[in-house]
Amino acid sequence: MNAITKTPLVIVVTSAIVDGDEGATKDNAFAVSSAIMSMWLMAEQLGLGMVWRTRGVGLVHDTALHDFIGASDQEQLVGTLCIGYPAEEMSSVKKRTPFAEKTTWL
Ligand SMILES: Cc1cc2nc3c(=O)[nH]c(=O)nc-3n(C[C@H](O)[C@H](O)[C@H](O)COP(=O)(O)O)c2cc1C
Repeated sequence: MNAITKTPLVIVVTSAIVDGDEGATKDNAFAVSSAIMSMWLMAEQLGLGMVWRTRGVGLVHDTALHDFIGASDQEQLVGTLCIGYPAEEMSSVKKRTPFAEKTTWL
C-alpha cells in the first residue's frame, strides 16, 4: 500500500486488445512493456525510483482499477507504475544474480 499512498506519481499503463487477433494483442502488450522499460531507464537517469506493479496494489488483474480509470473493453492493464524519490537506504547497490546464471547460449 505504501507504493500507492506515498509515491507522488502513479501511472496506469494499458495496451490495446485487437479483437480476433491474439498475436497483435500480445504484440501490443510487449510493445507497451518496452515503453515502460524506457520509462524505467529514464526515471533512473533522472534520479527517480520506479516500481512496476501488477499484483496486489498493482491491481492489474482486477477489474476495479480497469473500471476506475475508465478503460474500455478494448484495453487491458499492463502495469501500475509508482514513481517517486528513492529513500536514501534504497540507493545502495543491491546484490544481483549474475546474468550468466539466467542465460542459455545456443
Ligand atoms: C512485469 C513486472 C511486474 C511486476 N509486478 C510487481 C508487483 O506486483 N509487486 C512487486 O512488489 N514488484 C513487482 N515487480 C518488480 C518491481 O517492479 C521491481 O522490479 C522490484 O521492486 C525490484 O526493483 P529493483 O530491480 O529496482 O531493485 C514487477 C516487475 C515487472 C517487470
